[in-house]
Amino acid sequence: MSTAQGAGPAERQDAAGPALLQVEEVQAYYGLAHVLQGVSLTVQPGELVALLGRNGAGKTTTVKSIMGLVTVRGGHIRCEGRDFVGLPAESVAQFGVGYVPEDRRMFPGLTVRENFRLAGLGSRLPKAEQQAAIGRALQVFPQLEAHLDRDASRLSGGQQQMVAVGRALICGRKLLLVDEVTQGLAPNIAADMGATLRRIADEGHGVLLVEQNSQMALELADRVYVLDQGVVVHRGDAVALRRDPGWMERYLQL
Ligand SMILES: Nc1ncnc2c1ncn2[C@@H]1O[C@H](COP(=O)(O)OP(=O)(O)OP(=O)(O)O)[C@@H](O)[C@H]1O
Ligand SMILES: [Mg+2]
Repeated sequence: MSTAQGAGPAERQDAAGPALLQVEEVQAYYGLAHVLQGVSLTVQPGELVALLGRNGAGKTTTVKSIMGLVTVRGGHIRCEGRDFVGLPAESVAQFGVGYVPEDRRMFPGLTVRENFRLAGLGSRLPKAEQQAAIGRALQVFPQLEAHLDRDASRLSGGQQQMVAVGRALICGRKLLLVDEVTQGLAPNIAADMGATLRRIADEGHGVLLVEQNSQMALELADRVYVLDQGVVVHRGDAVALRRDPGWMERYLQL
């Protein structure tokens, strides 16, 4: 593996205490297929970390491993030092982890308000805190106020992604895992979503962002990991990579 610079911010902060998210040497399987072969990464509060790589590299599997949605047979996944390998997805939410899946999964017939209430229930927070979390999601996406009573599956693609990120924020008090949220969106809508995720990180969340648009991810991110065939083949500070015009060809073969 190569690194663009020596110890990045996460590695420096590790000495001060446990990372918000630490994925360590994770081995993940679909049946007999050994997909992740020792993936390690960290995310700290206030950081937006991009996870890049070609189709089939293992990005979604990494995020699903964190969420307890695939079989992990080795390694550790810790949130603030507490290991949650083997916990089901409902329990992972209680650690303050929110997840935006690759397909945005709006249940037909559910309004935006109902989507948010369900996310509140999933967070298992006390009722008043659920309401407060829904209020915070609406502060992040005030555009949704006007659509609260509409069927979320009938909103535009960009609005549906706002609902998906809003739901994740309601569960994810500390950490957001965001898988391909800009896919299929018009460039200006995608850029707005990217800026919103950056702001969410600036306000203290850790954000792990899987993104096909590597250029955009690099502009938003503090640090970058590149996966290939279930292995981290490169990690580096985004500032250093932004100064290196050849890196995408070298690491992503784009
Ligand atoms: N449900 C599944 N059952 C078996 N194999 C799977 C399953 N989902 C993914 N895979 C395989 O696991 C590997 C990693 O897939 P993954 O979806 O994690 O890649 P990815 O980096 O997210 O790709 P993409 O950019 O296309 O979303 C691929 O070889 C893929 O074919
Ligand atoms: Mg994927």
